Amino acid sequence: MSDADQPFVQEYALDRDCTTLSRHVLQQLHSFSAEAQDLSAIMNRIALAAKLIARRLSRAGLMEGVLGFTGGVNVQGESVKKMDVYANEVFISVFKQSGLVCRMASEEMEDPYYIPENCPIGRYTLLYDPIDGSSNVDINLNVGSIFAIRQQEGSDEDGTASDLLQNGRKQIAAGYVVYGPSTMLVYSIGTGVHAFVLDPSLGEFILASENIRVPDHGPIYSVNEGNFWQWEESIRNYIRYVHRHEGYTARYGGALVGDIHRILFQGGVFLYPGTVKKPEGKLRLLYESAPLAFLLEQAGGRASAGTQDILDVVPKALHARTPLIIGSKDDVSLVESFIKEQSREQTANRQPSAV
Ligand code: AHG
Ligand code: MN
Ligand code: MN
Repeated sequence: MSDADQPFVQEYALDRDCTTLSRHVLQQLHSFSAEAQDLSAIMNRIALAAKLIARRLSRAGLMEGVLGFTGGVNVQGESVKKMDVYANEVFISVFKQSGLVCRMASEEMEDPYYIPENCPIGRYTLLYDPIDGSSNVDINLNVGSIFAIRQQEGSDEDGTASDLLQNGRKQIAAGYVVYGPSTMLVYSIGTGVHAFVLDPSLGEFILASENIRVPDHGPIYSVNEGNFWQWEESIRNYIRYVHRHEGYTARYGGALVGDIHRILFQGGVFLYPGTVKKPEGKLRLLYESAPLAFLLEQAGGRASAGTQDILDVVPKALHARTPLIIGSKDDVSLVESFIKEQSREQTANRQPSAV
């Protein structure tokens, strides 16, 4: 590099360091309207929650009372970890008295949490999975947080949150935070997918990659193969297919956010299909599958429940689950083709024989 290039390089590095999350949201919207300011402020608050969670995770092994189970069980019937409770409360504390969101719904709360003092101005709902991949927490492996923002519709005076039972195309913004060697926040407000890295020395999320595109096809398949025995034949056939063809590699980390983060950058497919015990699979639509589907579609990928796009699925309940096939568009379509093939065969077998 010549000396003449030096000032340009420095200027560029400085510009990048100053591209914080809240500034980026405003740039994306090309506006300083009230709505743009709201979204920018909401993203800034989510970033604060992420920093608090990242800080606690990074010291977890050094502090008392951070790791392990609480002894309680959540609405999903899953054992709750102390970090699940802490992270859930972090999001609530961060949004209380913010004037930004009126209602919050999370994996860890049976019913939505209302912030009545925010409601006259903050007509948004935040849906979130405070810690995704909790089984990784106690062994110091990557976990995540997932979030989505929806406009609150109707008055919701009875507190049933029935307006949330709509498809994922109603999401205004969605994203995740991955707590790994560094903390990264990936988000979309419908203008592409952008990734930020937490610079601990600044305490700010700084732009790392803009307009990320997931490859149309990738080598990775990411699925818990321990469930093979209880899958539908179509999913088993897909897995047999990848076992018998060159060019596939398995990666499964036990935390959806990390597995999808890898696929976003390298291509491939993540699956959590239904099982005999759980035909709807494990993952929850409103705060796991739908936000990630919004992101992957924005990055040029796809997300399917098997025979329907995830973003078209209307949940029957706040904590409804759905099968999930998500990632590169060609790989998602390949899995779907096995599902279609099985349903064709089942239909053919049901036809009376023409004798
Ligand atoms: P959570 O920790 O929020 O309950 O989510 C865990 C999810 C997801 O992150 C992961 O992909 C999946 O559960 C792992 O499930 P299995 O252990 O059944 O593979
Ligand atoms: Mn989760
Ligand atoms: Mn969780």
